[in-house]
Amino acid sequence: MKAFVVKAGSTTFADLALVEKAKPIAGPGEILVQMRAASINYRDLLIPLGRYFGGTVTADIIPMSDGAGEVVALGSGVSRFKLGDRVAGTFFRNYIDGPPAQVERPALGSPVDGVLAEYVVFNQQDAVLIPTNLSYAEAATLPCAGVTAWHALMVSGKPVKAGETVLVLGTGGVSLHALQFANAAGARVIVTSSSDEKLTKARLLGAVATINYLKFPLWHEEVMRLTNGHGADCVIEVGGAGTLKSSMLSLAYAGKIAMIGVLAGFTGDTNPHPVMLKGGSMHGIFVGNRAMFEQMNRAIEINDIHPVIDRVFTFADAAQSFPYLQSQSHFGKVVISFI
Ligand SMILES: NC(=O)c1ccc[n+]([C@@H]2O[C@H](COP(=O)([O-])OP(=O)(O)OC[C@H]3O[C@@H](n4cnc5c(N)ncnc54)[C@H](OP(=O)(O)O)[C@@H]3O)[C@@H](O)[C@H]2O)c1
Repeated sequence: MKAFVVKAGSTTFADLALVEKAKPIAGPGEILVQMRAASINYRDLLIPLGRYFGGTVTADIIPMSDGAGEVVALGSGVSRFKLGDRVAGTFFRNYIDGPPAQVERPALGSPVDGVLAEYVVFNQQDAVLIPTNLSYAEAATLPCAGVTAWHALMVSGKPVKAGETVLVLGTGGVSLHALQFANAAGARVIVTSSSDEKLTKARLLGAVATINYLKFPLWHEEVMRLTNGHGADCVIEVGGAGTLKSSMLSLAYAGKIAMIGVLAGFTGDTNPHPVMLKGGSMHGIFVGNRAMFEQMNRAIEINDIHPVIDRVFTFADAAQSFPYLQSQSHFGKVVISFI
């Protein structure tokens, strides 16, 4: 079979290679999945650049955590799936339910092989049926980006409720999943972006208000103005230290900040004083577990939510998706189609 690999010691996208590998075989309790689509996340950029959790990969590894495909073979003892099922692997192996704990739960794409390969074997416990209303391309956006947004909104702290305000930073994959899930829950969503064109698209997607964070560097003041001084009940914080001060100053009383990303760098004013004054909370989010994935899939089906796909690359051109995502010209998700 054909697969992409990030070469050991990789520090550049040029170290991505398309190689021939032996087709994997489903062992006891495992399913063989013919991949139909994958999607790229910000972390997939950091891995070949040698900047994910501090270092280069030490062995050749198949990239990307997020993908969907069809079950084409069953190992002995498989009961969760049948041939022909449309499935996605979970971001973490061995993470079914409950809070994070000190057990081994390796993530796809690093440190264990990911999904940018024609065939992938999953333990049956590490896969879910994809929503029936989604194409493979749409479902391929869910395992990391979708579950992270769902976890942040609906599982961590107090779940977002109808009538509350959700603030979403930027228009990348996690943020637009959050916009769609928050809309479905009846929340008012405010979106920030560096691009007026993307903000127009965000309004068409259901954002009630938008802020260009380049034109309004003190964008928390706009959040307060747009909410008549109430602030955001939930902030989808994908910027990290570089945006945290404004996120804290955007917070409503008893609001929550979901700490997710690092897009705005690792330095900034992270003094938590504003959270204290507001009686707010901050929640670390590291993707999520299989139970969250299955709960999210039910919500996607019931509300007929379709993830936002910006662009689809063919499998042969998958390496081009890396610099494309890095350019940040995308709105939503960038997908690789195997068909
Ligand atoms: N903790 C977790 O479990 C978890 C899971 C998934 C992702 N993440 C992290 O979350 C972040 C987002 O991931 P992603 O895959 O959604 O990324 P992505 O799709 O690559 O998002 C890129 C977009 O983020 C926006 N952005 C960049 N800098 C910004 C800033 N200073 N302020 C506001 N928005 C900014 C830009 O939107 P505009 O072009 O509209 O300005 C950009 O297009 C990354 O740091 C990623 O590592 C963490």
